Amino acid sequence: MTDKTEQRVAIVTGASRGIGASIAKAIAAQGRHVVLVARNEEKLNAVKAEIDACPCDGTASVQTCDMADGDAVAALVEGVAKEHGRLDIMVNNAGITADTLILRMSNEQWDEVMNVNLRSVFIACRTAAKPMMRGKWGRMINISSVSGLMGNAGQANYAAAKAGLIAFTKTLAKELAGKAITANCVAPGFIETDMTDVLPDTIKDGAKQFIPLKRFGAADEIAAAVAFLASEEASYVTGQTLAVDGGMTMR
Ligand code: NAI
Repeated sequence: MTDKTEQRVAIVTGASRGIGASIAKAIAAQGRHVVLVARNEEKLNAVKAEIDACPCDGTASVQTCDMADGDAVAALVEGVAKEHGRLDIMVNNAGITADTLILRMSNEQWDEVMNVNLRSVFIACRTAAKPMMRGKWGRMINISSVSGLMGNAGQANYAAAKAGLIAFTKTLAKELAGKAITANCVAPGFIETDMTDVLPDTIKDGAKQFIPLKRFGAADEIAAAVAFLASEEASYVTGQTLAVDGGMTMR
């Protein structure tokens, strides 16, 4: 068993389903304590039950938080660091879409996506930096998107937020490198989750033509990349954006 005072503590946002739930399970499988965050407590408890049942040293707890509420995000991160006396890994995965073409996009749709996908990450990382600096170790991992690398019609708000995450994360990496804190992005391509489930089949089939591996990815394939970046072994990787996209954005 891992000594609980030595066990690294991670926060994973948007952990109630999809990519976030897979990331939480992968980090727990590394023996960490994972704080599962989203708005729906019941769904978070279901993910916790899976981690509790896993034959690994990892443990989990549940915290509800609306990532659109900046004060709540800061309070959440501070509270976790206080309760556990440490915070080692911050995975900002919660994200939303509000897709429409630019001419129809309202200020509200812009702000909504910016708040959840970018502003909350700034607040979470700013707050997490303090306990990580105290611990002289940290891993910040922000979930971007191929839309943030390439742009995507109908996603001006989402693509801008996801591109913003990449530059924000590079800045974090430069500012925090001296404290052995790394900061990286993972940019998923098309991944089979509730978020892509709503896309019409014509869009899905069209997208596959541009994916060298000719298929959508699985949430576990994103989680494996995040788990690597969260590991002790990833200590010399910082400021990077790892595209996990079936080769879609290779140059
Ligand atoms: P999903 O829609 O299945 O899950 C999103 C998670 O974020 C859920 O747990 C949801 O409850 C949580 N969330 C959303 N708004 C929240 C809020 N205001 N407060 C707290 N929690 C909130 O999405 P999926 O597909 O698992 O995506 C996860 C991340 O990966 C997102 O950041 C998304 O933008 C990104 N991504 C997903 C891709 C895909 O093809 N599925 C492709 C590229 C990036």
